[in-house]
Amino acid sequence: MIIRLDGGRLYDTGRGSFEQASVTYDSNHGRILAIGQGDLPADHVVPLDGAAILPGFIDMHVHLRDPGLTEKESLASGLQSAAAGGFTQVACMPNTKPPTDTAEIVEDIVRRGRDVGKTQVHPIACITRGQAGEELTDFASLKAAGAVGLSDDGKGVQHGGRMLQAMGIAGELGMPIIIHSEDETLSGRGVLHPEAAKRLGLEGIPVEAEAAMIARDVLLAQATGAHLHVCHVSTEPSVAIIRWAKARGIRVTAEVTPHHLLLDESIIDTDDARFKVNPPLQSERDRAACLEGFLDGTLDIIATDHAPHTAAEKAQGIALAPFGMVGFETAFSLLYTYLVVPGIVPLRRLMEGMTSRPAEIFGLEGGAIYPGGRADLTIVDLTAEEAVDPDRFYSKGRNTPFAGWRVTGLVRRTIQAGRTIFEAGEERLA
Ligand code: DOR
Ligand code: ZN
Repeated sequence: MIIRLDGGRLYDTGRGSFEQASVTYDSNHGRILAIGQGDLPADHVVPLDGAAILPGFIDMHVHLRDPGLTEKESLASGLQSAAAGGFTQVACMPNTKPPTDTAEIVEDIVRRGRDVGKTQVHPIACITRGQAGEELTDFASLKAAGAVGLSDDGKGVQHGGRMLQAMGIAGELGMPIIIHSEDETLSGRGVLHPEAAKRLGLEGIPVEAEAAMIARDVLLAQATGAHLHVCHVSTEPSVAIIRWAKARGIRVTAEVTPHHLLLDESIIDTDDARFKVNPPLQSERDRAACLEGFLDGTLDIIATDHAPHTAAEKAQGIALAPFGMVGFETAFSLLYTYLVVPGIVPLRRLMEGMTSRPAEIFGLEGGAIYPGGRADLTIVDLTAEEAVDPDRFYSKGRNTPFAGWRVTGLVRRTIQAGRTIFEAGEERLA
């Protein structure tokens, strides 16, 4: 079927601005046929009433909790939540139950993810068996099964020698090593940034725990030539080390989350586990350094680290609750409202960080709208406004610190390979 989106404002990736233009695509082949007011006949016309047409968003760090932890999230609920957030592709982390450490589990996620019929999912597989930090997994078979990268996310690989060995093999296979940087001999049993922890009488996570492991791993990337991707960068020294590594030509890329760009530890004044996340909300100085790093490209991309947990788990209080915040359904609107609208971050940089740059780094299709390209499109109303309401999330997780925040930039429709995978107001799948 030939479909035309009419009356929208098309985002021009080259210029970073909008122009009035229609987009015509073939929903069978999933490709864009024409841009502009061409006279291609369409079977169906979708009126957009001035909404923005953006390239589909890509999130390279998410937790879908499937297999095994489906009381927190499932492929169905997680991929519907992703679609509702405007994401056309996501990469899911392997801290599932069992952990995603075999080709069979990778294939199962790809197959069942496709059956959900929402956002396209790319599994990330474990670096070590069971994420135990000891024996390496079989990288070649994981790659053949469809893994886009390797990570023990949720934990850092503590043993430097093992990481050197992993990067040697991953480098030869052309697979990125995606690191959760945390030296556990430093972070210990800490739960919050030391200042916030002091206020609440809890144990702190020394800020050095992150940068110490990033320093080790950029040197190992230099030694092996492997592509190192650093997850959820949160501190000033981490940004400085990555900037130094890039200047030396070391193959390192990095991501930053919406919560580390928008929040700092000073917001935590009660025992509310919605603020508990790993790495923790850091100081205002760290937040400013992450923002600067994102603006100058040191931190390449935005990743949500969407980490759903049950209400019961999060009700245990900061000392006992698991780390994590949900992110899909608030990422774009929060960043647009609080960074783009006030002129802190250009829309063009935000769009790069959420579309073209992740595609480029991980070799995925996407990030631009052009005739012949895949019809991965996110339709956003840049004028409507609402308050974040977790009860209306499609995710099973309600654990967000942004409840009640006023936002604009609301996702109305998401199209993946020519199929509408989300329309505002649709029913929950599960
Ligand atoms: O806050 C976090 N939650 N950080 C992680 O590294 C893991 C994640 C999770 O799986 O819940
Ligand atoms: Zn992590």
